[in-house]
Amino acid sequence: MKILILNGPNLNILGNRDKNHYGIKSLDEINAELENHAQKYKVELLFFQSNHEGELIDFLQKESKHADGVLINPGALTHYGYSLRDALVDTDLPIVEVHLSNIKKREEFRKTDVLDGIVIKRIMGLKEKGYIIGLEKLVEHIRKTS
Ligand code: DQA
Repeated sequence: MKILILNGPNLNILGNRDKNHYGIKSLDEINAELENHAQKYKVELLFFQSNHEGELIDFLQKESKHADGVLINPGALTHYGYSLRDALVDTDLPIVEVHLSNIKKREEFRKTDVLDGIVIKRIMGLKEKGYIIGLEKLVEHIRKTS
């Protein structure tokens, strides 16, 4: 089983962002944690982060053909990234959405989520633990449905 781990704009500087919302871990640390768990589940992960919507789309178009699921934190693209949404739908893969902060309890503009209705699960407000839980849920789902 192979899972794509995607992170959108500004998540490359995790650890240096608002710690109350996003915690203290860097993206490399979070990815290392995910890799540990993936080895236990015998799952292969492919990581990608970009600050550019088109690059995320290019990656999905190329890599989704060889993958079984997507775990994504789209960053602010969550709130307006319609072409990323379309690309996610076009993968035809199960998608789990992760947010470090609780986007429903912050500014008004963050309450809009263009991934509504296309993800099998959304995890938010659990900081970096959300990624681990998200991976678990995605692996469970893929194992149940394949
Ligand atoms: C975020 C929430 C978004 O609103 C924000 O733009 C981010 C990170 C989160 O993980 O909580 O960059 O996706």
